Amino acid sequence: MLLNDALRARRSIRAFRPDPVPEALVRELLEEARLAPSGTNIQPWKVHVVSGAVRALLEQEVLAHRETNPADSGAEFPRRGGARRDPYLGRMRTLGKAMYGLLEIPKGDQAANWRQWGRNYQFFDAPVGLIFTIDNDLDAMSFLDIGMFIQTLMLAAAARGLGTCAQGAWNNYWTVTKRVLGVPDEQYVVCGLSLGWPDETAAVNTLVADREPVDGFAVFHGF
Ligand SMILES: Cc1cc2nc3c(=O)[nH]c(=O)nc-3n(C[C@H](O)[C@H](O)[C@H](O)COP(=O)(O)O)c2cc1C
Repeated sequence: MLLNDALRARRSIRAFRPDPVPEALVRELLEEARLAPSGTNIQPWKVHVVSGAVRALLEQEVLAHRETNPADSGAEFPRRGGARRDPYLGRMRTLGKAMYGLLEIPKGDQAANWRQWGRNYQFFDAPVGLIFTIDNDLDAMSFLDIGMFIQTLMLAAAARGLGTCAQGAWNNYWTVTKRVLGVPDEQYVVCGLSLGWPDETAAVNTLVADREPVDGFAVFHGF
C-alpha cells in the first residue's frame, strides 16, 4: 500500500476480531516504527508488547482495580486535564456524540459510559496490546518523539490491513500496569495501543472523526 493510502485508511479501531497477530508481524511493525525521527536521535520510546496470558492478566488486574478504586485515575506525569475550552471541547463533544451514537449509548447513561470506557482496558478485544513508557527525567520533547513513533507504527499497521487505537486511557491505573509489566519506577506509562484485525461488522468502526480544513490551522507566510 502506498504511504498516502495508508494514512487515509488509518482510523481508530475499537472492535477487533479474535484472530491472532503473530509475534513476527508485531516485530515487523516495530522494525518500521523505530525508523521514526526523534530530537537529537535519542529514541526515547520503550514498548511492552502484551499478548496471551500476560495481556489477560493486565486486563483483569486493571479492571478489578478500577472497580475498587474508581477515583484512582490520572497520569503519573503532569497533565492539565485536557482541553476543556473551545474549539477543543467542541471537537471532543462532536467525537463523543458520534461514537456513543454508534454504540447506542444514550447521553447521560453513566453506567454504560463507565462500561464502554472500560473497554479501553480490554484493548477493545484486540489480541495484542502495546504499552509505551518513557524515562521520567526526559522532557516534553521526548513525548513528541513517542508520538512520532506511535504514528509510524499505526501507519505500518494500516498498510497491512491491521487496525490500531492509540489509548491515552492507559495513563490511568498506571500503578497496576507498572506492577504487572515490571515497569521500573523511573519510567512513566505514556500511552497504550490496541492492535489487531478490525471487526468489519462493528458499527463503532465506521466512525469517521472530522478534521478541520487546512486554512483552519495553517498560516502561510511569504508565498
Ligand atoms: C494520544 C492519543 C490518545 C488517545 N486515547 C484514546 C483512548 O484512550 N481511547 C480511545 O478510544 N481513543 C483514543 N484515541 C483515539 C482518538 O480519539 C482518535 O485518534 C481521534 O478521535 C481521531 O480519530 P481517528 O484516529 O479515527 O482518525 C487517542 C488518540 C491519540 C492520538
